Amino acid sequence: MDTTLQAPAEVGRAKRLKAATTETHDRLDKRIMAGEPFASVGNYGRFLAVQYQFHRDIDALYDNRELADLLPDLAERRRFEQIAQDLGDLTLAVPENGEAPRFGPDGADLPTALGWLYVAEGSNLGAAFLFKMARALGLDENRGARHLAGHPDGRAQHWRSFTGALDGVVLDEAEEARVIDGANAAFRRVHALVEQEYS
Ligand code: HEM
Repeated sequence: MDTTLQAPAEVGRAKRLKAATTETHDRLDKRIMAGEPFASVGNYGRFLAVQYQFHRDIDALYDNRELADLLPDLAERRRFEQIAQDLGDLTLAVPENGEAPRFGPDGADLPTALGWLYVAEGSNLGAAFLFKMARALGLDENRGARHLAGHPDGRAQHWRSFTGALDGVVLDEAEEARVIDGANAAFRRVHALVEQEYS
């Protein structure tokens, strides 16, 4: 992958990803809300179990040097530990599914990884609404809903700095397709976890 050039300025990659995943996002959003994740702390615990397993899948990406060169502040965007703390705050067990994480420590296909990271980061932008509902359950950035809290710079600004970097990565057509496949695979993975935890 040649990362020395600037991406064309027309429609940014993040916007293209949004368009390519709107349907999977909508389906996931509806499926999650059907499980009434904020109706009780017990229901919220199931949502946390989903988040835990999704972020376990991608946690190794935050240590990836090549990705960190492309995406500044990557390491501080990781939320796995906060989710584990949220579970601990609510004295909930860490889910053990016996599966190996989707990405291990031995590097990753970068375009695919970018797609998964787009989904993880974007979910923090959308989490403003979820954080509000978590607050109604008495949870906040210090207890139970740490991983849903906004960045001190503001969610929108934090998202723009991510999408700016993502847009700037130069990829060829085949790699571009892998980013989109990666994002859709990440949404499907979360959907499968929701089915597992809420059924
Ligand atoms: C009930 C659950 C959810 C609701 C209600 C929801 C809602 C939203 C909303 C309102 C936005 C737009 C925020 C804005 O533009 O200011 C958004 C963005 C986003 N959400 Fe969700 N979301 C939910 C769950 C998720 C989950 C579980 C994921 C992935 C794990 C996810 C991934 C994304 C992504 C990638 C974006 C960024 C879209 C873009 O602008 O490119 N969402 N969400």
